[in-house]
Amino acid sequence: MTDTPFPFDPGATAAMLDWTAQRIADGPDPKHGAQAFAALEPVLGGSITAEGIGAREAFALFTDTIVPSTRPFGHPTSLSFVAAAPSRAALSFDAALGAAGIFAGNWDGGAGAIHAENQALRWLADLAGWPATAGGVFVAGGTLGNLSALHAARHRRAQAVPRPERWALICSVEAHSSIHAVARVMDVDVIAVPTDAGGRMSAEAAAPHVSDRVFAVVGNGGATNCGAVDDLAGLARLCAAHGLWLHVDGAYGGAALADPQQRGLFDGIERADSLIVDPHKWLFAPYDSCALLYRDAGHGAAAHGQQAVYLDTVDKTHWNPSDYALHLTRRARGLPLWFSLAVHGTDAYAQAIARTRAIAEAIARGIAARDALDLLLGPQLTVILFRPRAMAEADMVRWAETHRRSGALLCLPTRWRGEMVFRLCIVNPETDPAQVLSVLDSLPG
Ligand SMILES: Cc1ncc(COP(=O)(O)O)c(C=O)c1O
Repeated sequence: MTDTPFPFDPGATAAMLDWTAQRIADGPDPKHGAQAFAALEPVLGGSITAEGIGAREAFALFTDTIVPSTRPFGHPTSLSFVAAAPSRAALSFDAALGAAGIFAGNWDGGAGAIHAENQALRWLADLAGWPATAGGVFVAGGTLGNLSALHAARHRRAQAVPRPERWALICSVEAHSSIHAVARVMDVDVIAVPTDAGGRMSAEAAAPHVSDRVFAVVGNGGATNCGAVDDLAGLARLCAAHGLWLHVDGAYGGAALADPQQRGLFDGIERADSLIVDPHKWLFAPYDSCALLYRDAGHGAAAHGQQAVYLDTVDKTHWNPSDYALHLTRRARGLPLWFSLAVHGTDAYAQAIARTRAIAEAIARGIAARDALDLLLGPQLTVILFRPRAMAEADMVRWAETHRRSGALLCLPTRWRGEMVFRLCIVNPETDPAQVLSVLDSLPG
């Protein structure tokens, strides 16, 4: 063995890989969930010592304490927030990718990985109906994707018009919280436009808010709380008329572009300027990745490229992912999606997304048929909002906690038009509607 400060027994590597294989086969345990600081501290506190505790002990902390104290988002009964449903292919590959230790910030560092990631980006660009100029990069999540796209939007607008006292963007009141967070980082105002009864923003509602200080309109491609897809065709026309950038936040819903039955909801997206889709939401990839795409990738590069003498050796004639978002170093986080697509094929993806939608429809039908429950909305994409007719808010919270703890169902309350409601968001094609409805039968009538 070469002299190293970090000797490591290959047997320990093998043991970790065995655990990994078993975990991927079994999936997460639905009974797992966050434990209190007071429970974790006696076990994990002090685990970093001067001498080290060794691989066996450190890995046992991971398997026996860390993993059980995490929410099993990948389980088919996990139907709150926007969960995850990584394919076994994607999870297996992610383990291998970690071992490969690839730097994918620029072509020199990660050409093969970048080329393959770009295949997955091209698939998404084709689904959006975008030309050969389209391109982008995988970033860590939708928040960073939204920030990077909107920075490019303002950069382009700033070349064309005098700088206003305050920049502003237009979005709907249903826009994700990350749009507001991005606006704070960019120090721009948010003009939040009211929606229709389903949470959809129309071009007519947005139009009166257009002014010289607006640089972009953000259309929902699947609002988180209600699943609404905004009137993208109308918004594209509005943006074209005023030289504005249309950004589509499809972090959750953009996956539905792959389902021919749902594609019509996104008509107009072919004229949008940028789009994000999170593969860790409804594209069956593990955390964390967001596909950020520009219809004209040159706008992304104009806004984001970094320059420094120590970067002069980077070959600028190649595709350098660091040029397209707010980052430099990056792992090839789009590769698990590429691998899963390559293994299963795009038809399997279309079918899995259509099946998820069918599961949501079956659950919504079951809710509508139950006297104890009011179906309020949906499914829109795969989001369902409903309310038990005779249940106080505190009881709803207690019911949700009981079923979360037992592992039967993660179904947490949200608010819709001011009222507490239950929300389901299905992204897992293995969710069983009959099982979900049988849990909902425990709600009092
Ligand atoms: C519509 C939408 N946009 C943006 C985000 C933010 O994505 P991320 O959590 O990956 O930063 C989310 C997350 O749920 C989302 O649903």
